Amino acid sequence: MTEQKSSLQTIISLSDVQDIVDESKNRPGALLPILHAVQKRYGFIPNSSVPVIAQGLNLSRAEVHGVISFYHFFRTERGGEHTLYVCRAEACQSMGSRELERHVKERLGVDYHGTSADGRVTLEPVYCLGNCACSPNVRFDDDVYARMDNQKLDELLAAHGVKVGEVTP
Ligand code: FES
Repeated sequence: MTEQKSSLQTIISLSDVQDIVDESKNRPGALLPILHAVQKRYGFIPNSSVPVIAQGLNLSRAEVHGVISFYHFFRTERGGEHTLYVCRAEACQSMGSRELERHVKERLGVDYHGTSADGRVTLEPVYCLGNCACSPNVRFDDDVYARMDNQKLDELLAAHGVKVGEVTP
């Protein structure tokens, strides 16, 4: 099946996407697990994968696009090497996540859905990480970090070699 090469040399194999679809298509509610699996494999959901998914599940492309755009988690463009999620749900907001997000946006020089200039980190919002008792929380790739503050966040970024800018006082 057709393959296309991105500017960052990641090969999107539609045969692999087809394999992912074939593995799950007969399960009830197969679309979400398939989208998760595609994003896990490529870091985003390539546009070219949508017709394969739609055909495999007997859906229209618009239906698949609709689900992708409905969930904040799914990304349609390539992200950075890592993803930092800041929780914006109620418990975390009441414990200071707004200040945290202001800080990290300045540090990375991006808004939500943006990627730092060095390509290391994409910043994403998330709406509850299931760890409300220890708010505010962030997630860095697959790990959740509780009771975050600006300093701990800087340390977390530094520990992953992320270059950060100065924050306006
Ligand atoms: S509100 Fe942030 S973890 Fe639940």
